[in-house]
Amino acid sequence: MDKRRILIQLDGDAHASVFDRVVAIDAGADEVFSYANVKPQDVQALVHGAIFTRGPKDLKSTAIFVGGSDVGAGEKLMAEAIKHMIPKFGLRVSIMLDANGANTTAAAAVRAAGRHIELKSAKALVLGGTGPVGQRVARLLAREGADVRVGSRQQAKAAVVCQDIAGRVPNAMLHPVGTSSNDELAAALEGRTLVIAAGAAGIVLLPKAARPASLKVAIDLNAVPPLGIEGIGVTDKGVDQAGVIGYGAIGVGDTKMKVHKAAIASLFESNDKILDAEETYQLAIGF
Ligand SMILES: NC(=O)c1ccc[n+]([C@@H]2O[C@H](COP(=O)([O-])OP(=O)(O)OC[C@H]3O[C@@H](n4cnc5c(N)ncnc54)[C@H](OP(=O)(O)O)[C@@H]3O)[C@@H](O)[C@H]2O)c1
Repeated sequence: MDKRRILIQLDGDAHASVFDRVVAIDAGADEVFSYANVKPQDVQALVHGAIFTRGPKDLKSTAIFVGGSDVGAGEKLMAEAIKHMIPKFGLRVSIMLDANGANTTAAAAVRAAGRHIELKSAKALVLGGTGPVGQRVARLLAREGADVRVGSRQQAKAAVVCQDIAGRVPNAMLHPVGTSSNDELAAALEGRTLVIAAGAAGIVLLPKAARPASLKVAIDLNAVPPLGIEGIGVTDKGVDQAGVIGYGAIGVGDTKMKVHKAAIASLFESNDKILDAEETYQLAIGF
């Protein structure tokens, strides 16, 4: 009989996320061991506790979820955890990263776009493209073959993001663009068929009057008024507004939740999964 499914939650925040714990239980974990305030130097002992208890054949029933509000800190915890597994003896457990919901949100947003537009021929603009969610959206779109403009108030900041993605995605079509003035924004939007707004909460990045005629799909991930794309409702989910299909943050959130649960469930299928943005997106394609 399979062992009870234990999810070990590594969270860099002072209190481990209640949201992530609830989703873990709803996704089929029998027990959630939550660790808060986790630093990279704490990870080795936590991973050893996971891999040295059950035998290799039962390790698929133990898995690690890396969360917390700081995505950069989460990436470090994930890298550290992977470093301390011992795959050559089968001593490893499956692991996923979803700090600040960045991977599941980005995956769900790109999936939403892909329902309405062929991604490989899309001309995309990611507004707020330098944040953790925007960077992942840009990366996933680039992998799908889209032509991607990465927007920032400072073009130089977007250029750093493009460089990082180009290092990971061969032949990516990426262009850093500034969006701080109306003229810059108009140039960034020109000819774009897809806009995904991943800007900070409560900031309008795309006023209605600035929408280009070429726009086919507009997706906003900001749920805090004022919303990121003026004219798209927070609960809109594939709403057609005079030829522009729109999604608001809650409209995308439904898929995000499904992806989050599917990702956790998949961790318990084997002990060798590593779910970052790309692997999470593969799960999103099913929804
Ligand atoms: N539904 C969900 O579960 C979920 C999960 C995660 C995130 N979200 C939402 O997704 C969005 C992106 O998240 P995130 O964590 O990546 O965002 P973030 O890091 O807070 O912000 C993203 C980008 O927005 C730009 N920005 C910040 N302040 C601004 C201002 N005052 N004016 C104009 N631009 C500004 C910055 O880019 P530049 O400095 O380069 O201009 C920043 O890199 C947020 O709205 C967040 O609430 C939703």
